[in-house]
Amino acid sequence: MQVAVIGTGYVGLVVGACLAETGNDVVCADVDASKIASLRENRIPIYEPGLENLVERNQTQRRLSFTTDVAAAIAGAEVIFIAVGTPPDEDGSADLTHVLNVGGMIGRHMTREVVIVTKSTVPVGTAARVRAVVSREAKYPFHMCSNPEFLKEGAAVDDFMKPDRVVLGAESDHARSVMAELYAPFVRTGRPIIFMDISSAEMTKYAANAMLATRISFMNEIAALCERVGADVDLVRKGIGSDSRIGPSFLFPGPGYGGSCFPKDVKALMRTAQEYGATLGVLDAVEQANVRQKHRLFEKLEAALEGNVRGARIAVWGLAFKPNTDDMREAPSLSLIESLLAAGASVTAHDPAAIEETRRKLGDLIRYAESNYDALEGADALVIVTDWNEYRHPDFNRMKSSLRRPIVIDGRNLYSGPRMRSLGFVYDSIGRVPAMVEMVKA
Ligand SMILES: NC(=O)c1ccc[n+]([C@@H]2O[C@H](COP(=O)([O-])OP(=O)(O)OC[C@H]3O[C@@H](n4cnc5c(N)ncnc54)[C@H](O)[C@@H]3O)[C@@H](O)[C@H]2O)c1
Repeated sequence: MQVAVIGTGYVGLVVGACLAETGNDVVCADVDASKIASLRENRIPIYEPGLENLVERNQTQRRLSFTTDVAAAIAGAEVIFIAVGTPPDEDGSADLTHVLNVGGMIGRHMTREVVIVTKSTVPVGTAARVRAVVSREAKYPFHMCSNPEFLKEGAAVDDFMKPDRVVLGAESDHARSVMAELYAPFVRTGRPIIFMDISSAEMTKYAANAMLATRISFMNEIAALCERVGADVDLVRKGIGSDSRIGPSFLFPGPGYGGSCFPKDVKALMRTAQEYGATLGVLDAVEQANVRQKHRLFEKLEAALEGNVRGARIAVWGLAFKPNTDDMREAPSLSLIESLLAAGASVTAHDPAAIEETRRKLGDLIRYAESNYDALEGADALVIVTDWNEYRHPDFNRMKSSLRRPIVIDGRNLYSGPRMRSLGFVYDSIGRVPAMVEMVKA
């Protein structure tokens, strides 16, 4: 099939590369000329495992191409995916400027009957607005579709290739059959394509992200309570996660959720509720809990340093909002670093993939270490923010001898509290039994 993907960010690039991999002719278009120039040379502007090989192979075999000429990409396509960004507007609603711009372009430049697919995360009613914009100039029939994307950064290729399900809101049999054909190679193991109306598909994406954010905030609040009552959130997590009605995913407490999706999608859904006069009080609480959680690591560090943050040198392990990505959008590390700098501390940070992205945001405000151990040299404390695999089993003796003071604030519960304390660390984590209780229990 002739496919155009407009917007070649995290989502558009993965969608384009995976659809080319199954034999389609795919053109990925973006207005960012430097991004397109890199991609043409098989240089991937983001860190995403498996993506580089896929892009290189499909570009070499001429099934995948990149262009800044959005009009040319649209002309000739049978299916057009809109995968541009939908950043939060000032009032929290999704900014649809890019989506509607692309709609206008499609109307002007389509040269045949097309299926137009909104892949970007967009509020209910957006496909209808795109339809209206396209109609103004369209000379051929077209069919709207909403096909929200559920990929996870860090596992995006796998998620697209083997989706749990494909959600497809469509308004015509033609759109349904074209999309079923396009997705058939990805659902061969029997994973469902769930057909529905367009509004329900648009709502499904927000409801999914809001539910996941809710689980995270819920567990972070339970973790805070565990600390007070002397319970261990890791045991509580296992205890509830094994209940088949609850399940084990997204129950890990941590430094708060971040990334390009949860914060903005929670806000946008709250905004939709407001517009329609509905109540979504649960999401107010989810968001407020997350704001509080993003300060937790700083508060714990301040307590461990007995208030002496000014002049302290702090090592930070992990900058990206989660492992296996270099995405720094709304990363909890940024809140921590901001608080540390405001309190007069200096920061040396390590991340296996996100140094370049962080440098773009923070420049020389902090120092960047080549290795996680380098970051510890002469530091008064270590704070772990992102659970990269390489931080899971470090050389504790080396850590202890590199740090000036053996303080570790573990925002991901990577280590055992009793073990760390027996090694001589002052150790705190999220929602686990504080040292005093461990001693009493022993
Ligand atoms: N990142 C994720 O994990 C993820 C997952 C699911 C859904 N989404 C949704 O997918 C959408 C895209 O997200 P992303 O993370 O890929 O964003 P991104 O910012 O990485 O990429 C968006 C791209 O669109 C391009 N663009 C903007 N206007 C354009 C135009 N008029 N024509 C052509 N290109 C244009 C930008 O230059 C940019 O490269 C958003 O709505 C997001 O909420 C993201």
